[in-house]
Formats: sequence, C-alpha cells, structure tokens
Amino acid sequence: MIEISGLTKRFGERAAVSGLDLTVASGEIFGFLGPNGAGKTTTVRMLTGLIRPTSGRARVAGFDVAENPIAAKRAMGLVPDEPFVYPKLTGLEYLRFIGELYGVRLDEIRRRAPELLEMFELAPWGGELLESYSHGMRQKLVLAGVLLHEPKVLMLDEPMVGLDPKSGRLVKDIFRELAKRGTAIFMCTHVLEIAEKLCDRVGIMIDGRMIACGTLAQLREQGRGGGQDLESIFLSLTGGAEYASLLRYL
Ligand SMILES: Nc1ncnc2c1ncn2[C@@H]1O[C@H](COP(=O)(O)OP(=O)(O)OP(=O)(O)O)[C@@H](O)[C@H]1O
Ligand SMILES: [Mg+2]
Repeated sequence: MIEISGLTKRFGERAAVSGLDLTVASGEIFGFLGPNGAGKTTTVRMLTGLIRPTSGRARVAGFDVAENPIAAKRAMGLVPDEPFVYPKLTGLEYLRFIGELYGVRLDEIRRRAPELLEMFELAPWGGELLESYSHGMRQKLVLAGVLLHEPKVLMLDEPMVGLDPKSGRLVKDIFRELAKRGTAIFMCTHVLEIAEKLCDRVGIMIDGRMIACGTLAQLREQGRGGGQDLESIFLSLTGGAEYASLLRYL
C-alpha cells in the first residue's frame, strides 16, 4: 500500500530525509519513531504530496504521489501534526466539507457525520464553531474526518497528542479495527508504549536515515544495549549513552 524508494529531501545543504526505502502492506500498522528533527514529518509531507522530494519515489495505493497526486491523495487520509481546522466552520460543516472534498455521497455524509461525532463524544458540539474547540476536540474532529471517506492508507503524525486517556484508548482500538479491515497505517509517534503495543513493525529515524526497521523482536537483536523494552532499545540505538551528561546544564 505504501512503497517508498530512495526518498530524499534536502533543505539547502542539509538532508532532512536521506534515501529512505520502505514498504507498508495492507492491514499493517507501521510506527515511525525518532528524535525531534529526525525527518518524520518531512517524510509524511512527501508521502502526502504536500512537499516535493528532492529525489526518490513514493507510491500510495499503487499511485505515484508525484505523477498521480490526486488519485494518491484520494486513497489516503492524513492526520497532520497540528490539527488544522477552519475556525469559522462548525463541526458538522467541517465533516461535510471533508466528505465532499473526497467525493463521499451527500446522503452518506448526512448519515455518517453525526455517527462519527457521537463516536468521538463530540455530538453536543456539532453545531459549534471550531474556534471554540479545544486542542483535543480538534484532533478528534480531524480523526473523524479521515474516517468519513474510508481511506486505504492512513498517514498519522502524532495522532495521540492532546487526547485524554479514554479518547486515546478509543483511537487505538479504531486503528486496530481499521488494520483488521485492511487499511495500511503509517504513524509517527514518540509514545513508545503505543509503538510497542499497537505497531506490527517500527522504523527508527535519526538525522534523516532509518537506522533500524523491523518487528520488536528484530529490533531487540539490533539494540546494542541489550535492553528488552522498546525504550531501552530506542535509547541504545539513538545514542542514550550521552543522555546522562545532559543534566549537567541544569
Ligand atoms: N520547511 C523547512 N525548511 C527548512 N528545514 C526544514 C523544513 N522542514 C523541516 N526542516 C528540517 O528538517 C529536519 C526534519 O524535520 P521534521 O519536521 O521532519 O522532524 P520530525 O522528525 O518530524 O521531528 P519532531 O519529532 O520534532 O516532530 C529538521 O532539521 C528541520 O529543521
Ligand atoms: Mg514531526
């Protein structure tokens, strides 16, 4: 569902993403990890056609993102790192707008939009302007929006940020169910517990390069620290040795 080869993005002299190769299958949940500035969001922006790669290719649901951007975008849903919503629309108007953008039939939108608001416990605010929504409410509305058009591929950049524990649990269960139905899920996250419990495979980015990729069992073999949980593996792969010395600046 996602095929990435040699994907590279340079900003001036600096490479934000270097020669990324990766495939994500239908029904798979892939966790994309890495320290701040590692190149995760830049990768998502290239995969979703928001920025052009300097070189390399990305195909989503069989469509080349550069050559066939509309078809590729129709097949995917994006939850970006910041939940941007139009402040002067209401929740229901936003969902109708997103639905129409993706070509969902109007009767289908009328049926699904209230159900989705209900699922995310936003129904009482469906008629309120989005400028009055909290960060978490916006995040849930954006999630409701991507579920409306049933994409084959979901791109999620830190989807759990700002969600309360109950909503976080709901969203995890939704992702599991979507994967069971065949959706490919590509998710950037800093929450190692989510990566550990939810993701079939994880990839670890550092300075634009994916330095490890595989199931948790495979990463355990690659981790130099010999730790068993993902946090130890992550820290050993991303230079946890220097961590202790950081506190000297306090
Ligand atoms: N538009 C841009 N212009 C110049 N440099 C950029 C731009 N966007 C990103 N970068 C640089 O690319 C690198 C990767 O940034 P990116 O946002 O992809 O990191 P990230 O892995 O998503 O980090 P975080 O975990 O903080 O979200 C950073 O060094 C960043 O400064
Ligand atoms: Mg980011």
